[in-house]
Amino acid sequence: MRTDWSMDTRIIHSSQSPDPLTGAISEALIPAVAYAFPNAETAAAVVAGDQEGIYYGRYGNPTLRVLEQKVAELEGGEDALGVSSGMAAISIALLAFLKHGDHVLVTKDVYGGTYSFLTSLAPRFGIEFDFVDCTNLEEVKLSVKANTKALYIETPSNPCLTVLDIQQLSTICKQFQIPMIVDNTFMTPYLQQPLLLGADVVVHSATKYLNGHGDVVAGIIVGKKHQIDFMRKKIMGDLGQNLNAWESFLILRGLKTMGLRVQRHCSSAQQIAEFLDAQPSIRRVNYPGLPSHPQHSLAKKQMKAMGGIVSFEVEGGLMAGKQFINSLKLAMISFSLGDPETLVQHPASMTHSSIPAGERLKFGISDGLIRLSVGLEDPADIIRDLAQGLSAITPQMLNETRVI
Ligand SMILES: Cc1ncc(COP(=O)(O)O)c(C=O)c1O
Repeated sequence: MRTDWSMDTRIIHSSQSPDPLTGAISEALIPAVAYAFPNAETAAAVVAGDQEGIYYGRYGNPTLRVLEQKVAELEGGEDALGVSSGMAAISIALLAFLKHGDHVLVTKDVYGGTYSFLTSLAPRFGIEFDFVDCTNLEEVKLSVKANTKALYIETPSNPCLTVLDIQQLSTICKQFQIPMIVDNTFMTPYLQQPLLLGADVVVHSATKYLNGHGDVVAGIIVGKKHQIDFMRKKIMGDLGQNLNAWESFLILRGLKTMGLRVQRHCSSAQQIAEFLDAQPSIRRVNYPGLPSHPQHSLAKKQMKAMGGIVSFEVEGGLMAGKQFINSLKLAMISFSLGDPETLVQHPASMTHSSIPAGERLKFGISDGLIRLSVGLEDPADIIRDLAQGLSAITPQMLNETRVI
């Protein structure tokens, strides 16, 4: 691959070339579980990691290996590991650095599944955590304890779109000699490359923009080769969280159009955020592309564009919010994001319902908050749909505020 190619070209060509035997341009789908070796010595060398190779389906497959190499290259990392879901990627990355008695600092508004893993499962294995406001660098420094072994952040965050300064946070991590893990799901390497800003490990829910078609659940971790080797052999392999060849193939196919898709998601989201911001029935719009966003200038510096997710609060809280999403005709009520279809959801009762109401409010996830994953449809049609949804909110609902 040429090193002077731009991201748009690398997305298509990086780590991929025509099959030497057939000339096939699209990636080969190799579902084999078992692989034959010319002799016992080679088999032993591959298992020991002294020689590159694939030896058993639970540790990877050739189609996945192409995907791993491609995402590693796009993120600017040494190696990558494809796993069975975004949550598998997050839990593996955290478990790679944390053991019994260790502590992790976590940005305060993380994805609900990450919150659930840290608050329910991790403590059963003696892992401690603290949620901190990572927009406040002093608070981060003061929260580091003697047993803190990692900082975990998500930027922009789900669902409040808080933008964190990766470079500044990575400087703090280096000072305390702790690794920094970044969930880059909302951005993709097309818009943000945390490793180049000083992060140590990047995790993705490949279920979202990397695949981009709503038909795969997968995760990817990118980091240093020795970290990825450890995660593959000692965590992913032992827990059996592998990604199969078919899903790897679908992500490789989806990735080819990631540049175009992400550009469209971003330009439509910007138009939609501006539309929502101008509506009297909308109390607050969270979108890094709006000048009113608290980290707008950081976002412009750190991100190539602002992403496809917009969240907002309708006047009238929960009742009005529910009426609004129930009235939408084009946008579908759904848990996922990053798909061709516009998807809308209510974090308090859906993706972030594992967070108790009091905690949720501290994280900025109010009962009236709505998250919109802007799809690839004509933005004018999406805006018309949102306008007709807003018109379904009655004046009585506008006075309602209730905690579920
Ligand atoms: C930011 C973020 N990270 C991780 C995940 C988990 O991904 P998966 O559903 O693929 O396990 C999600 C899911 O919505 C997410 O939004």
